[in-house]
Amino acid sequence: MTTTIPVELGARRYDVRVGTFTAPAVAETLAEAFGPSTTGVALVVDGGVAALPRARALTEALSARLPGVAAFELPAGEACKSLAQIERTVEWLAARGYDRQAAVVGLGGGAATDHAGFAAAVYLRGIRFATVPTTLLAMVDASVGGKTGVDLKAGKNLVGAFHQPRAVVADLGFLDTLPAREKAAGLAEIVKCGFIADPIILDLAERHGAELPPDVLRELIARAVGVKAVVVAEDETEGGRRAILNFGHTVGHALEAASHYELLHGEAVSLGMVAALELGAALGVGPRALVDRARSLLGRLSLPTDFAPRLSAEVWERLAVDKKRRGAAIRFVFVPAPGQTVLRDVAPADIAAALTAPGQAPRA
Ligand SMILES: NC(=O)c1ccc[n+]([C@@H]2O[C@H](COP(=O)([O-])OP(=O)(O)OC[C@H]3O[C@@H](n4cnc5c(N)ncnc54)[C@H](O)[C@@H]3O)[C@@H](O)[C@H]2O)c1
Ligand SMILES: [Zn+2]
Repeated sequence: MTTTIPVELGARRYDVRVGTFTAPAVAETLAEAFGPSTTGVALVVDGGVAALPRARALTEALSARLPGVAAFELPAGEACKSLAQIERTVEWLAARGYDRQAAVVGLGGGAATDHAGFAAAVYLRGIRFATVPTTLLAMVDASVGGKTGVDLKAGKNLVGAFHQPRAVVADLGFLDTLPAREKAAGLAEIVKCGFIADPIILDLAERHGAELPPDVLRELIARAVGVKAVVVAEDETEGGRRAILNFGHTVGHALEAASHYELLHGEAVSLGMVAALELGAALGVGPRALVDRARSLLGRLSLPTDFAPRLSAEVWERLAVDKKRRGAAIRFVFVPAPGQTVLRDVAPADIAAALTAPGQAPRA
């Protein structure tokens, strides 16, 4: 079975297809999305994925279906997210003669699809692109919203563009080789969607734990994509509503950066969600029962939940410069009940008082 989730963005609308697909089926979906005028397809592939039989099969199936298909391999994971790597990719596109009617397909985790999307956004001032995400995180998060980009020394994702894909095909077959830790990190973003908008996600994950049958995994991915799709359709360029997707990310981002990226993004979000729920309970914006529910579910999914020992001076410094900071306060997404959200600005001193044991609070 497959599930198709529309991302309704007017002229830029597209579908995210979730299921287990044959390579020719993926190629057919991409060919239809790009249209008959396509002159070539550049498959931009994560270096950790390129040698997988499923990736090779996709290259072959695309070559059989579309003209000018060639694959270009990126360094695996985050290493591809630099302007230097973008230069390599766009020079390759130019050297191969890809023109304005050509298309880019990003195949890999969120790093590779962010890179591929940004290369497609800037090459010849923008050509068509699509993604075939191969990590759970990329399937549920990077697949929707059209954010593309790379990192700078000064920080992650500081250079980029909004460039919507023509299609996304999330082929669950790729998840067979994904390390368990990466899979758990993706589940954290799925659980986030459960808390902010779709409590059935929480029920399903609680019923099955980490051993998710393929049909349940497909439903969880589809539901999480659905949540993000609805939010993004309301707020394509992040003016307002899209802020709810930052649940767990305020403290999460600070923990992730302070760990020097030892923590995976999803692990940091897991910790950040528990922290936000804990803060909500302390401020009376959410029930304590929800903190316990989150700790128990995330723990069962092999995700970290014990954020308190990680609240180092560096974390507090990073929270203070959080880009969501307004004046003297930091904006938090709270969950008063599963599926509901409230945005509220909280003073750093109140955060410290709620999240640290007496005597452990940071110096002002
Ligand atoms: N554009 C967006 O809206 C958006 C949203 C969330 C995250 N992101 C970005 O996504 C990136 C994180 O993505 P990620 O969590 O997918 O990690 P990743 O892309 O860094 O991949 C993690 C590792 O898994 C490997 N891998 C990928 N697929 C595999 C598979 N099927 N089998 C075995 N190994 C595989 C990769 O080679 C890499 O080593 C970050 O750069 C983040 O900024 C973007
Ligand atoms: Zn996230």
